[in-house]
Amino acid sequence: MKDWDAESAVLAARALAEGRPTGWFEELYAAGERGETTVPWNRTAPAPQLTDWVPTLGDPDGRRAVVVGCGLGGDAEFVAAAGFTTTAFDIAPTAVATARGRYPGSPVDYRVADLLDLPDEWARAFDVVVEIINVQALPVSLRPAATAAVAALVAPGGDLLVVENVRGDGDPPSSRPPWAFTRAEITAFAGHGLEPVSPARSSGLPVRWTAVFRRKDRKPGPE
Ligand SMILES: C[S@@+](CC[C@H](N)C(=O)[O-])C[C@H]1O[C@@H](n2cnc3c(N)ncnc32)[C@H](O)[C@@H]1O
Repeated sequence: MKDWDAESAVLAARALAEGRPTGWFEELYAAGERGETTVPWNRTAPAPQLTDWVPTLGDPDGRRAVVVGCGLGGDAEFVAAAGFTTTAFDIAPTAVATARGRYPGSPVDYRVADLLDLPDEWARAFDVVVEIINVQALPVSLRPAATAAVAALVAPGGDLLVVENVRGDGDPPSSRPPWAFTRAEITAFAGHGLEPVSPARSSGLPVRWTAVFRRKDRKPGPE
C-alpha cells in the first residue's frame, strides 16, 4: 500500500498543474478509502494546541463552534465534547463521510463545504473558530482569500485559534504544500477585524505557530 504523504505530493502536483488547487484532497481521501494508500491525516486524538486552548474559553453553553477543514473529525469531536454546539466542514466528501461513520450519533454537524465559497449564514456566526493546518495546504495565491474566509466566520466577541507550520523569515517559500507561515503571515489573520489575543507562539515538531485572535466588535446592546 502506498504511503499517503508520498501520494499527496503526486496528486497535489498534478492538481496544481491543472489549475485545481483544492482538487487533490478528495482524490487523496478517496484513495485512502479504497485502500490504495494509507488514510491521510488519520488521527482521532485532538491536536495538543486545541486541548490546551479549549479549557481557556469559559462556559460553552449556547455558544457555537466551527472546525475548518475538519478532516476525519478528531478535533471537532473534542470541541463538541467540551460542550460547544459544533459544526465541522471539509471540502472532501470522503473525509466528511468517514468522520460521520467514525462517530455515529455524534452531536457534530458535519458538512461538505468549501472555505472559499461558504454559506452566507455562516458569516460572523461562530463564537469559537478552529483552523488547524488547512490554509497552509492552499497555494499562497489563495491565502488572502482563505485567511479572510476563516476570519469571517468569527462572531462579534468570538475567538479564533490558528495553527500553521512555521517558516523562518530567511527561509525560501516551499514549491509544494504545505506552504508554511512566517510570523508576519500568521499575524495577518488580524487584518480582518480581528485582534491578536497574544503574540503567536511556536512549538512542537513539526514546529507550528499557535495564534489566537478575537473579534472585538460586540453587537451594540441596550445602554
Ligand atoms: C492538511 S489537512 C488537515 C486536516 C485537519 N485540519 C487536521 O489537522 O488533521 C487539510 C484539510 O483541509 C481540507 N481543505 C482543503 N481545502 C479546503 C477548502 N477550500 N475548504 C474546506 N476544506 C478544505 C482538506 O480536505 C483537508 O482535510
